[in-house]
Amino acid sequence: MRLVLIGPPGAGKGTQAVMLFERLGILHLSTGDILRENVKKGAPIGKKASSFMEKGELVPDDIVIEMMLDKVRSSNADKGFVLDGFPRTIYQAKKMDEALKDLKIPIELVVYFETTLKTIIFRLTGRRLCKECGANYHIVNMPTKKPGVCDKCGGELYQRKDDNEETIKTRLEIFNNQTKELIDYYRDKGILREMSGDLDADVVYKELAGIVRVR
Ligand code: AP5
Repeated sequence: MRLVLIGPPGAGKGTQAVMLFERLGILHLSTGDILRENVKKGAPIGKKASSFMEKGELVPDDIVIEMMLDKVRSSNADKGFVLDGFPRTIYQAKKMDEALKDLKIPIELVVYFETTLKTIIFRLTGRRLCKECGANYHIVNMPTKKPGVCDKCGGELYQRKDDNEETIKTRLEIFNNQTKELIDYYRDKGILREMSGDLDADVVYKELAGIVRVR
């Protein structure tokens, strides 16, 4: 299955993509994670991207497209993948479609998680991540057994710099002004499914995995 997850910040794209990877073995490619890894390493892409990310703005198309297509080409993408956070503009979507058509691995399904503002703010302000392994938690919805300590590896938890109310507002504006157009783009191609992103992670996963398995 070659899948794209679309949704506003905090819709649960990353959470669902990790569940698909852990339970069904589907390769997870997250633009945000790859960019953050490059920032952490001080790599050239990270240096170019970090100021945009901290402000909640989109990293320029050319940087992101090149980075993601390289990643797809160097992974076992012919066995299927889930793209989380990419594409985010019509330009990115068209470039990706051209490249995946050449590789004979076009996108088969796009899932849009429609999510309310209340959910988004609650989830993002409460999100915590592990500094070591990247595991994703929420202080209320998905707390660790020991506060501030990762259940999986014992690493220290931190809050993303862009998870503050002001930056969340910018990210949402960008989603509404630039990314939402993708919904019609994929609906016109006949590969869009819409789901509520507000439901519990297990409920969302059940519906998502049901669709993925029958394809
Ligand atoms: P990115 O990391 O992709 O951020 P985002 O799209 O804003 O999405 P989030 O990671 O915030 O949310 P999510 O939907 O994955 O939610 P999650 O599962 O973590 O991008 C960051 C930045 O990188 C961008 O702002 C931009 O600068 C740049 N960038 C990335 N892609 C780009 C592109 N294509 N082009 C240009 N620039 C790009 O869940 C959130 C929280 O809620 C967690 O705590 C989780 O535990 C909890 N939770 C999740 N689901 C549920 C549920 N169902 N019930 C209860 N709690 C839940």
